[in-house]
Amino acid sequence: MPQISKRASKIQPFHVMKLLARARELEAQGKNIIHMEVGEPDFNTPQPIVDAGMAAIKDGAVHYTPAVGLAALREAIAEYYLKQFNVSLLASRIIVTPGASGALLLALSLILEAEQSILLSDPGYPCNRNFVSLLEGQSILVNVDERCGFQLNSDLIKKHWQANSAAVLLASPSNPTGTLVEQNELAAIIEFVKQKDASLLVDEIYQGLVYDQKPTTALALSDDIFIINSFSKYFSMTGWRVGWLVVPDDFISVADNLAQNLFLAAPTPAQHAALAAFQPGAIKILEQRREKFKQRRDFLLTALPKLGFTIPVKPEGAFYIYANCEALTDNSFEFAEQCLEQVGVAITPGIDFGENQASKYIRFAYTTSLENLKEAVGRLERFTLMTKK
Ligand SMILES: Cc1ncc(COP(=O)(O)O)c(C=O)c1O
Repeated sequence: MPQISKRASKIQPFHVMKLLARARELEAQGKNIIHMEVGEPDFNTPQPIVDAGMAAIKDGAVHYTPAVGLAALREAIAEYYLKQFNVSLLASRIIVTPGASGALLLALSLILEAEQSILLSDPGYPCNRNFVSLLEGQSILVNVDERCGFQLNSDLIKKHWQANSAAVLLASPSNPTGTLVEQNELAAIIEFVKQKDASLLVDEIYQGLVYDQKPTTALALSDDIFIINSFSKYFSMTGWRVGWLVVPDDFISVADNLAQNLFLAAPTPAQHAALAAFQPGAIKILEQRREKFKQRRDFLLTALPKLGFTIPVKPEGAFYIYANCEALTDNSFEFAEQCLEQVGVAITPGIDFGENQASKYIRFAYTTSLENLKEAVGRLERFTLMTKK
């Protein structure tokens, strides 16, 4: 009998998948479910981007590109950094990848030896620790809470740093909390990591989705860090599977080697489509959507506390609210299950993002219309009245 590797069998599925499967069953029975568990925009890809992808397929752009991506796309990404953030970046440092997932796998493979450790926040995006485990590294999960804006800071990093630590990974805005790492804190982290000859990885996948301030990039502070980004979220291109990794100069050639071996290349039609994502026509549509996300966030920021949830830190970006539900339940997973069964609202329990206070938290994704969110809040109100502690 073939044996499943220990590496693979250690990887846990997302708990929300169980809820999602149940939601589909309920929908098949004719029940109406409002989805607030989904981590992707409800909007389809803007038409100019779709048109560019279709034209590329018609024109025969169906062969491999270079492993590091289409030269024109790498140039366009570099130009985006210049225009948006006034950061000048050589296109040769940009590796186009199959989504941020590809970028994370590539970056972690580039910097982590087996047995070395990396500091990650708990709660945080769950795939990171699974990638680390596949690479036989160790994740040091550092508890973060409202006192540190649900983000790692230089004090926490110093406190949890181990002799075998080789890297720190941050996400700003973060999934699940939507909070940002402040630029002065980022500068202190960059300094600490530099002193240790270690690596800093910053996942900026939600960069374009910031609501009350201008988006920033950690690249404005240092060239010796790794930046993960993607066309999935702000650009509404989750299914196209295209993202990018920015590497320090010394890593360009080894990243090319590794990308060739891991992926050969990101999907070619998707790369051509992504080229159109920076055009004014697409950006105009995307900015209108960002405004819609902001309205949805602001609606929930007012509505959820009235139901008994607390939102300890205002989420500045992404499309998530990480709400404390301890006034309503002792077990957020059961709460999410019952909420789905009884009132047809699907939400993600904290357990999917780590273990730190997970039973006290729920992630609400505002990836559905304002109308649906209003209906969901009405349903949640009924549910919380029924289940009051
Ligand atoms: C923080 C974070 N990083 C990376 C990803 C992976 O995104 P993709 O591979 O679609 O670009 C996600 C997806 O939800 C995410 O939330």
